[in-house]
Amino acid sequence: MSKVLVLNGPNLNMLGSREPEVYGNATLSHLIDFCTSTGAELGMEVDVRQTNSEDELIRWIQEAFEQKLDVVLNPAAFTHYSYALRDACAMLKSSNSRLIEVHISNPHARETFRHNSVISAVASGVIAGFGIQGYALALRALHDN
Ligand code: DQA
Repeated sequence: MSKVLVLNGPNLNMLGSREPEVYGNATLSHLIDFCTSTGAELGMEVDVRQTNSEDELIRWIQEAFEQKLDVVLNPAAFTHYSYALRDACAMLKSSNSRLIEVHISNPHARETFRHNSVISAVASGVIAGFGIQGYALALRALHDN
């Protein structure tokens, strides 16, 4: 069974109560169940994690590199400025790990500072604006390609 890491960055632990008009009503625990059950349908083992720490997120990307795992990543605010996270993500290519960048909202329809992603250029694909459904789309894309 192929294993995929689904990694979530800062403030995504607050899903459900954080700006529900932007991010919806699903909680992190709902997101974890949703990704795990989508993975089970597709025959994939899905390990869903969240951290507010850049250090921890980078370590998880390094783990994916070492174990040659595919990654679904919602880098949250790190999307827009973390060159350290981008450098970690860039490594994934050399281990043939695919990286799908996911956003619950559509950052391009929001404040200007959200329009740039430092991660997208090193991602295999980007999904944004479909709510938590975007995670299922990302898992399906990894499964089907
Ligand atoms: C986000 C969009 C980012 O701009 C924001 O900082 C987040 C969440 C999203 O999922 O829509 O924390 O990545």
